[in-house]
Amino acid sequence: MNPASNLIFIGPMGAGKTSIGRRVAERFGLEFVDADQWIEARLGVSVRTIFELEGEAGFRRREREALSNLCAGEGRLVATGGGAVLDPANRALIAASGFVVWLRVAVDRQLERLARDRSRPLLATPDRRQRLQAMAAERDPLYASIADWVFESDGRKVSSAADRLAHAVAERWQRPVRAA
Ligand code: S3P
Repeated sequence: MNPASNLIFIGPMGAGKTSIGRRVAERFGLEFVDADQWIEARLGVSVRTIFELEGEAGFRRREREALSNLCAGEGRLVATGGGAVLDPANRALIAASGFVVWLRVAVDRQLERLARDRSRPLLATPDRRQRLQAMAAERDPLYASIADWVFESDGRKVSSAADRLAHAVAERWQRPVRAA
């Protein structure tokens, strides 16, 4: 088990890394940081605009930089972008910097949760299901390779998912959890 003092959430878009992560951070008294939001705040533009101006390669460069900053700290819950694990250096950094939770979610549930989303450039495609399935096929082994624990993120309510996750992580990570 990874003894580091951060919790790091990995997993695909629509798994709830941000919404569940925010609540779980509170329960452990951790500072919540979302890598995409951190990049957007620093640059003053959206992830979508970064993709438009610099392409995916440019965004991945920004993402690497964000993770090296965020993982250097302690006492944080870091929500990573779904593609952060594509880079081997990111994977090594994530694995070394905290207790890593993979939020796993079925494609059907992703489609439901992201139905109205226009902020994710990789979903700007006529066949979202096919895109999400292809991403899962490529990335699931990468998530699995660094996860300390896997959480099935298929429930509907964020608050009960956060509660379930906090208790399960507390046991495995051996940290006290505050009441909701
Ligand atoms: C991406 C996921 C997004 C964001 C970007 C690329 C991906 O983050 O980093 O749109 O490659 O899966 P979320 O997983 O938070 O949606």
